[in-house]
Amino acid sequence: MITPAGPAGTRRALRVLVLNGPNLDLLGTREPAIYGRETLDQVNAGLAARAAELGISVAFFQSNHEGALIDRLHRRDFDAAIVNAAGLTHTSVSLRDALLAVERPFVEVHLSDPAAREPFRRVNFLEDVAVARFVGLHARGYALALEELARRWASGLIPARAVDPETRDG
Ligand code: DQA
Repeated sequence: MITPAGPAGTRRALRVLVLNGPNLDLLGTREPAIYGRETLDQVNAGLAARAAELGISVAFFQSNHEGALIDRLHRRDFDAAIVNAAGLTHTSVSLRDALLAVERPFVEVHLSDPAAREPFRRVNFLEDVAVARFVGLHARGYALALEELARRWASGLIPARAVDPETRDG
């Protein structure tokens, strides 16, 4: 169910799901020259603080398993998502399909700039279906993604979905 968009400020809080894929649980110690020294908990804490300032309700989910990420999306208890699919960005038709199936706009984020690295990272199954992308900006990319979604929400560009999770075929 889609609630009609009202003028800015008249709707409930935007609900954003922050989805992080394989190996991002190792941030802080994983290849710090590429990904930095901040842990995922620290990145998420910074994002939660920014979300509170923006009046956005934010939920975090990280998994090393493709199916778990897809199952989380299928819950559809969010209006929009921030997605760092990590290595699955370059391999997963199924994750792309899930993002399209749940019909929620998402912003693609990468700490590094995959296109500036090995050639196999130039294959990207998500970039053409993301509403915006922030790459190579480390944790700042997540904050910019949140701000982009806040702008879109305020402009009525993101449908306000039913607050109760929808049924799988709803
Ligand atoms: C990454 C880039 C991917 O190519 C890589 O597989 C990751 C992290 C990033 O945030 O820079 O795991 O998504």
